[in-house]
Amino acid sequence: MRSSVFDCAILPLNKIHNRAGNITIVEGGGSIPFNVRRIYYLYDIPGGESRGGHAHKELYQLIVAASGSFDILLDDGVNKKSVTLNRPNYGLMVVPGIWRELLDFSSGAICLVLASEKYDENDYIREYQTFKNYNSNV
Ligand code: TYD
Repeated sequence: MRSSVFDCAILPLNKIHNRAGNITIVEGGGSIPFNVRRIYYLYDIPGGESRGGHAHKELYQLIVAASGSFDILLDDGVNKKSVTLNRPNYGLMVVPGIWRELLDFSSGAICLVLASEKYDENDYIREYQTFKNYNSNV
């Protein structure tokens, strides 16, 4: 079945308060509905730059603004949705089959991504028209 932007939810993550700061714990298969096989993070993003501009065929991701803020545009080929991430204890789960763009990064923003699979270039759809065709055939 075709993916929908409405399947991409903001998940509240736990936050343990401490006098000396906070800690948030994410457990694959526990607080998020997939196992984590890879973690990566974007940082030192120059002002005005955007990232993403692709979809994935199988990959699930949890995207967290570990520091600062940024916007994510989601597009399933029919509906679009814009989400702002600006707190480290909330994550956006992006399901497979969604075109995404990340933009409007604040200075010093860190975009932490927990991914369900290891890196595989074959899982990417990097051309928008290919994505539209792919999604209308699922
Ligand atoms: P890409 O996913 O296209 O970046 P973004 O969505 O943040 O704009 O990846 C950028 C480059 O980094 C691309 O050449 C592939 C490489 N890369 C890896 O080698 N391994 C990885 O896990 C990731 C996420 C990217």
